[in-house]
Amino acid sequence: MIAGIRDEGNDMTEAGTTASRVAIVTGAARGIGAATAQRLAKDGFAVAVLDLDEGSAKGTVEAIEAAGGRALAIGADVSDAAQVEAAVERIVTELGPPTVLVNNAGVLRDNMLFKMSDSDWDIVMNVHLKGAFLMTRAAQKHMIDQKWGRIVNLSSTSALGNRGQANYSTAKAGLQGFTKTLAIELGKFGVTANAIAPGFIETEMTKATADRMGIPFDDFIKGAASQIPVARTGKPEDIAHLVSFFVSEGAGFVSGQVVYAAGGPKA
Ligand SMILES: NC(=O)c1ccc[n+]([C@@H]2O[C@H](COP(=O)([O-])OP(=O)(O)OC[C@H]3O[C@@H](n4cnc5c(N)ncnc54)[C@H](O)[C@@H]3O)[C@@H](O)[C@H]2O)c1
Repeated sequence: MIAGIRDEGNDMTEAGTTASRVAIVTGAARGIGAATAQRLAKDGFAVAVLDLDEGSAKGTVEAIEAAGGRALAIGADVSDAAQVEAAVERIVTELGPPTVLVNNAGVLRDNMLFKMSDSDWDIVMNVHLKGAFLMTRAAQKHMIDQKWGRIVNLSSTSALGNRGQANYSTAKAGLQGFTKTLAIELGKFGVTANAIAPGFIETEMTKATADRMGIPFDDFIKGAASQIPVARTGKPEDIAHLVSFFVSEGAGFVSGQVVYAAGGPKA
């Protein structure tokens, strides 16, 4: 059957439900979010591809549709409450009530502490922490109504501390606490919440870091891979695979966990 579309002859989708389930992936125009949106569409979800600019989300939607899936491009700033509320309402109307939320939107404003500006701090807190809070608050009621839901938050190995990232490491550690509290509050409604803490993943975000440091991206990747036990850096699909597990029907007894996906042990 076509992924994400109800097949009248067989009520079970690949997501294992009686109707197509709706997933929201934030920051899904590119990188980890785009790979995750495509993977969830393949798994049978109708996917809301949310990013700052609706136009930028269209590429991911086209890739999903070309593969036979169902998706909707949504423009919203996750740190703006009114835009988040409007986006979730539009998703409910055009795709259906969302029961999966992947809080993936993110930004970097790296700087050593003594040079970090107030706005470097605020934007990172607003996008990662306030954004995840606003999106989750808006989406959870639909999960509770359906007595089923899955929330996945993107943390980072930087949560363990990373030079030049006082803002980002704080936000990513904060998301782990947020995840555990969601798991405790929402568990009785059939909703799980888990966090993924990736190590080095090849995306525009890590490329921007290489550019800022004046290192060619290939050399930056080689240098990172030499420190990683599996001897390679990660791809967005590595993270999408783990999201696919967390949102699956069979993962209902796994909640409040943080999985470091970094090609080796971290904690
Ligand atoms: N790439 C890595 O190595 C890595 C490692 C650990 C964690 N992460 C986390 O994974 C997530 C995805 O990272 P990526 O590497 O794919 O990044 P990316 O920069 O390639 O993509 C991030 C996306 O988020 C969107 N976005 C930014 N601010 C937004 C806002 N206010 N509202 C809506 N969308 C917004 C951007 O437009 C962009 O499309 C981030 O949360 C990042 O912190 C990445």
